[in-house]
Amino acid sequence: MAEAAVASQLSLMLKASLADSSSHSLFASTNSIACSSRSQWHRLSQPPPLFVSSLLPPPLDRGSVVNASTSGGFNSVASPKCAASYTDQLRGAREDIRELLKSKYCHPILVRLGWHDAGTYNKNVKEWPQRSGANGSLRFEAELKYKSNTGLVNALKLIQPIKEKYPSLSYADLFQLASATAIEEAGGPKIPMKYGRLDASSPDHCPEEGRLPAAGASSPADHLRKVFYRMGFNDKEIVALSGAHTLGRARPERSSWGKPETKYTKNGPGAPGGQSWTVQWLKFDNSYFKDIKAKRDEDLLVLPTDAALFEDPSFKVYAEKYTEDEETFFKDFAEAHTKLSNLGAKFDPPEGIVLDAAP
Ligand code: HEM
Repeated sequence: MAEAAVASQLSLMLKASLADSSSHSLFASTNSIACSSRSQWHRLSQPPPLFVSSLLPPPLDRGSVVNASTSGGFNSVASPKCAASYTDQLRGAREDIRELLKSKYCHPILVRLGWHDAGTYNKNVKEWPQRSGANGSLRFEAELKYKSNTGLVNALKLIQPIKEKYPSLSYADLFQLASATAIEEAGGPKIPMKYGRLDASSPDHCPEEGRLPAAGASSPADHLRKVFYRMGFNDKEIVALSGAHTLGRARPERSSWGKPETKYTKNGPGAPGGQSWTVQWLKFDNSYFKDIKAKRDEDLLVLPTDAALFEDPSFKVYAEKYTEDEETFFKDFAEAHTKLSNLGAKFDPPEGIVLDAAP
C-alpha cells in the first residue's frame, strides 16, 4: 500500500478510534503465535482482539491474507501459515527500514519509538507481559496517547507499510529492529540484537502513564535513577543511553521542550523545525556530550536531565569520559541498547534469533 494511503488510513483510524471510546486498538495487531519446525521457525498471525469497527474488515481466519487494494479497508494482513521464515522477514524488513531512512531521515523518531516501547519495563514484576518493556504495546492507542508519546504516531505510520509487507514480524521486534538499524545507519555502533519478541495482545497490557523519564523533574539526577533503576540500569548505562540525544530534536508542540526552530533545523532534513542537541543531529557520534558540557550555543538544547549528567558526581565520570573518548561511548552505548531492547521481552524461541554473527 502506498505510504500516503496508509498514512491517511491511520489518520482516519486515529480519529475514529478517538471518537469511539469502545475501540482500543489503533493499529491492526497481528498477534503472533510461534510455530516451530526443525529447520525453520515461523509465525502464524491472528487478528487483533478489538477493531475500529467502522473502518476495519471483520476478523480474518488465521492464515488468510487480505489485499488492501481489494478489501477497501485497513490491511489486516495475516500471514499464511508458516509461509516464510521469520529470519527472511527480519532481513527484508531491515532492508526496507534502510530505504525508508534514506528518503525520510527519520532516524531519531525510530530510535525514540524503540526506547519508549522498551523503557516502560518494571524489573519488580515477573509476569509477561505485565512487566511491560519491549512487547509492542506502544502500538495501542491507550499507550500512544500518553503525553510522553506525543508524535510517535508518526513513527508508527512510517513503519506500518513494512509491518504489512512482513506481517509475521511482531511489532515488538519491528520497533527494536528499526531503532538499531537507525542508529547504525546514522553512523553509530552496531548493536548486538536478537529477535523473536512476542507482542502483548491487548491494550489491557499497556503500562500506566508516567513510566518514562520527565525532562523537567525537580531533582533530575534522582529522577533519572528512580526511573532507570526500575528498569535495572546503572549510572554508566543511564549516561550512555542519554547519548542517544546526539540524534534528533525536541519540538515544543510535542513535548513543550525546545524552540520552534533553530538555524540547525529550519531547513530539515525531514520535517523542519524543533531544537536539536547537536549541530549534525542525524549523525550518531559523541557530540551530544561535547555540546551539553560546553552549553555555548543557544540554538542547541540542554534539558535539565541532560545537564544533570555533568552535575551529578557519579554521572559526571562517564559523561566526561564519553566527551573525550567516542570509542568507549560507542561500546557502552551498544551494550546498554542491547539490554534496553531486551527489557521485559519474551522470546520465541527462548534464545532468540540472531541475524548477524557477533563481530
Ligand atoms: C534520560 C532521560 C530522557 C529524557 C528526560 C528524554 C526526553 C526527551 C524529550 C523531551 C524529547 C523531545 C521529544 C519531542 O519534542 O518530540 C526527546 C527526544 C528524543 N529522545 Fe529522549 N529522553 C531521555 C532518554 C532517551 C533515551 C534513553 C533515548 C534512546 C535510547 C532517547 C532518544 C531520543 C531521541 C532519538 C529523541 C529525538 C526524537 C525526534 O527527533 O523525533 N531519549 N527525549
